[in-house]
Amino acid sequence: MRRWSLDDIDWGGFEGGAVDADLLAVVKTAALVEANAADYVAYLGDVFRGDEAFLAAIQTWGREEEQHGAALGRWAELAEPGFDFAGALAAFRANYRVPQNVTQSIRGSRAGELVARQVVETGTSSFYSAIRDATDEPVLKAIAGRIAADEFAHYRLFQIHFARYHAVEPLPLPTRLHVAATRSPKREPPGIASNAWSSDTADRLSPRRARSAVAAAATRSSVTSPCTSSGYARRPSSTLASAMCGVRTRRRATA
Ligand SMILES: [Fe+2]
Ligand SMILES: [Fe+2]
Repeated sequence: MRRWSLDDIDWGGFEGGAVDADLLAVVKTAALVEANAADYVAYLGDVFRGDEAFLAAIQTWGREEEQHGAALGRWAELAEPGFDFAGALAAFRANYRVPQNVTQSIRGSRAGELVARQVVETGTSSFYSAIRDATDEPVLKAIAGRIAADEFAHYRLFQIHFARYHAVEPLPLPTRLHVAATRSPKREPPGIASNAWSSDTADRLSPRRARSAVAAAATRSSVTSPCTSSGYARRPSSTLASAMCGVRTRRRATA
């Protein structure tokens, strides 16, 4: 059962004058990644086939992630009249698909997959906390706060299931570290981060503005910035943070 719905957001409290253009750019990218959750649910369904407890849990997880995308996309349409979230999402999906019909995790094992998921969720929780603290726009602040709480709950969800697998067949520490390291955006092949960038929406983002938004989130809150000074995500396998932090890196690479 979801902890909240779009109806819980006071959309009428939106203050157009408080929209920060830098954060708007970041939110649009985040909305695309979140809204693509159905592919992840299908992927995890393949990986964890037969584990009915986990399969039931990720159905709720997927709906919550999709709701994150819907909330952020709706906010972006308020903040930028003319922005077509549905169209941007269609372009994004045409450009990137999560692996489907797999027989095992691309992380090598179910436990490894759950390690990767835990790191992703902690990274996204930190990032939305930073957005919540950075923005002066009340609707975005409310949305980011709710999403940050969801992401931490997701971390706990994957932690619980990881413990179950780890108890039966312990995953060695070096393997766990390897999973985290191979999720680093420095080593990751074309994935969500790069494809979010090449999507219709993300193409219109300014690297300077996105970098400023991340910096603002860090300096205006007690939350550590998820991006390093070189533009990489601090949390090595945070897909969403990688997407955002990768803005700077990609521009440098093509400059
Ligand atoms: Fe999310
Ligand atoms: Fe999540």
